[in-house]
Amino acid sequence: MKQGLIGKYRAYLPVTGSTPVITLGEGDTPLVHAARLGREIGCDQLFLKLEGCNPTGSFKDRGMVLALAKAMEAGSTTVICASTGNTSSSAAAYAAHAGLRAVVIIPHGYVALGKLTQVLVHGAVVLSVNGNFDEALASARSLADSYPVTLVNSINPFRLEGQKTAAFEVVDELGDAPDYLCIPVGNAGNITAYWRGFREYKAAGKAQRTPHMMGFEALGAAPIVNDRVITKPATVATAIRIGNPVNWQNAVRARDESGGTIQAVSDEEIIKAYQTLAATEGVFAEPASAASVAGLLKLHREGLDFSGKRVVCVLTGNGLKDPDAAIAHSPRPIEVSADPAAIREVLGWE
Ligand code: F0G
Repeated sequence: MKQGLIGKYRAYLPVTGSTPVITLGEGDTPLVHAARLGREIGCDQLFLKLEGCNPTGSFKDRGMVLALAKAMEAGSTTVICASTGNTSSSAAAYAAHAGLRAVVIIPHGYVALGKLTQVLVHGAVVLSVNGNFDEALASARSLADSYPVTLVNSINPFRLEGQKTAAFEVVDELGDAPDYLCIPVGNAGNITAYWRGFREYKAAGKAQRTPHMMGFEALGAAPIVNDRVITKPATVATAIRIGNPVNWQNAVRARDESGGTIQAVSDEEIIKAYQTLAATEGVFAEPASAASVAGLLKLHREGLDFSGKRVVCVLTGNGLKDPDAAIAHSPRPIEVSADPAAIREVLGWE
């Protein structure tokens, strides 16, 4: 039986004897050597952290398992969150597993189909609001302030505590921290959590160093890069369609303390990276996830030398989450009769 994150990393997590140990098998995700993509940028130690292999298909499960366990420990019966999709999928699944109710607030028309499917299937109360993520989050916060429900957005401190375990796994597997960690940035919780994880592991003597944190926002939703709130964020990568991130200052700190950078990548660069990942590495990640690879390719084009460096790109969510994006950016099936002769002809086989 898979131990789950609470069991495996309990020494590093704020759990007590009375914290329920729940798990859907989150964590322990593959770190895949991307040899072909690495060759394109002259880097023979490029790795992809496949967070889409978590139970609900995204990294959110790492934080959600702890947030739900702590909500249970506190006697809460209902959790609430705003979400661009993945947080709500995870909250809905873990709430179902734990026997709690979930209320999720999502921006109408901007949540990928797979994620919408998940919240419905898991029986959450789904409120699809006429507003963007930032507005949905303001509502969720205000409701959680006035009612006895637990907010499970990344303002909830247990979320980031759970998410930092991904950094532990990277170090456990590589034997040390990488030189660079490339990661998409939306609400900026994950970059904050990884940075915390790397620092804690170094302080514990598990790593000799910490990586440069390289964060990537979508160009039309890049508040940190532009140093101002974006009131109408726009990007094909709906997961990171966020204009006023909660962990803004923490992300800036992670960038500066690590000697890293936060930059913007265009939708074209994101989709190109998304297709490249699928076609050259066999890895199907959702568009927002591909921002990490789009950023890496951009830094390479701009002259950053990755030879002899160890680089990890975090692929935050599974490509199946967003079938509409996948179909829009892929060739159509070839329609042909089942006759082998007709198929041979289409394939050009003599
Ligand atoms: N990648 C994916 C697939 C995401 O779903 C998110 C955030 C991010 C990257 C960015 O991570 O917010 O920690 O900087 N999704 C949130 C949600 C906002 O509601 O599911 P972040």
